[in-house]
Amino acid sequence: MPRPSKRISGIVPSGKDGWEVHTEAWARKEAGQDIIMLSVGDHDFDTPSQTIEACVTAVRGSNHHYTPLPGVPRLRRAMAAASTACTGIETGPDQVIATPGGQAALYAAVQAVLDQGDHAIVVAPYYATYPNTFSAAGASFTVVETPAEDGFQPRADRIRAALKPNTRAILINTPNNPTGAVYSRERLEELAEICREHDLWLLSDEVYWTLGGGEHISPRGLPGMAERTLVINSMSKSHGMTGWRMGWLTGPAEMITLLTNLNLVTTYGLPAFISIACAEALENRYGVKEIAERYAARRTVLLDAVRGMNNVSVHGSEGGMYVMLDISAVEPDDEKFAWAFLDKENVGVMPGSSFGHAAAGHIRISLCQPEPVLKEAALRLRRFASSYRREAA
Ligand SMILES: Cc1ncc(COP(=O)(O)O)c(C=O)c1O
Repeated sequence: MPRPSKRISGIVPSGKDGWEVHTEAWARKEAGQDIIMLSVGDHDFDTPSQTIEACVTAVRGSNHHYTPLPGVPRLRRAMAAASTACTGIETGPDQVIATPGGQAALYAAVQAVLDQGDHAIVVAPYYATYPNTFSAAGASFTVVETPAEDGFQPRADRIRAALKPNTRAILINTPNNPTGAVYSRERLEELAEICREHDLWLLSDEVYWTLGGGEHISPRGLPGMAERTLVINSMSKSHGMTGWRMGWLTGPAEMITLLTNLNLVTTYGLPAFISIACAEALENRYGVKEIAERYAARRTVLLDAVRGMNNVSVHGSEGGMYVMLDISAVEPDDEKFAWAFLDKENVGVMPGSSFGHAAAGHIRISLCQPEPVLKEAALRLRRFASSYRREAA
């Protein structure tokens, strides 16, 4: 074939991607081994039945045609109402644009604020696609780690130290994947101050906003931030709809108008019947409370089981769909730990270092399994952690 563009080849540079343990665990499960998969962040349950019924009704109701580029009006109204609740700032439909999932909202946000050669700051540990999303825009970025011993909270001094003359944006994610950290108001205020002072965009990934366990604080709601914040949102986690591919971006109306041009040349609108089902799910909050309660209960079960364990401690793990366990006292090399845990106890987890340096010495455990499975995994972890030390000795 003729040479592909540097742009497309550069999005995912080849090599190790950090998912090796997950891929192997999956292959062993497919081959019939009794593997507990705690490496992936997709619900173990179906989309709420009311949402499915709304979609069936919509598809039977001849909603089979092109839709307005920024989203059907009813969907935009529902998204704006959800953004008002999420960010604490009155949001109109002209301040939101529907996208095929949170990832597409993230892509749109990065494309919208960074030119080729511009620089951004990415607060780590971060969601795995972030570096590739910047590569796709031809932008560079500096990773600023949040220390585990500080509960993975962002530190303003470290961010200030990473600023460059061509820095245009800071990307954060709270509640956080992979750490489960929920950024405090105080730390978000410090971040907001940097953005105002240096005239930066804040890209705020809030796809786990309903799974935070307490009050959700969006930096868009802080003084002077609505004009410089783009909030990435999604129905994947909050509404149990990962496979439906529906998300949205919230920001200043002028930016949303510009972003509509990106839809003109990419998605050209979204499926009509899915848009209507999503509008109904947002209006009625189908499944939101139940899903949040389910993850909160699972988190409690897992953390209770882990708390008494020798040499395993918890950092972050306040919200989202994951907990982060510090296993460095057992084995400082988290990849080695994850491989040995898979081999000996048939449990697949993610090595923390897959998500950056700050999470090294940790494993990320997904809560996307029922409580009895999480309890069994905790038992295996206890057995593994105690016998591992004996063998090492
Ligand atoms: C932090 C974060 N942002 C964005 C996404 C993308 O979600 P989706 O594209 O399914 O809406 C995910 C998915 O796991 C995530 O964890």
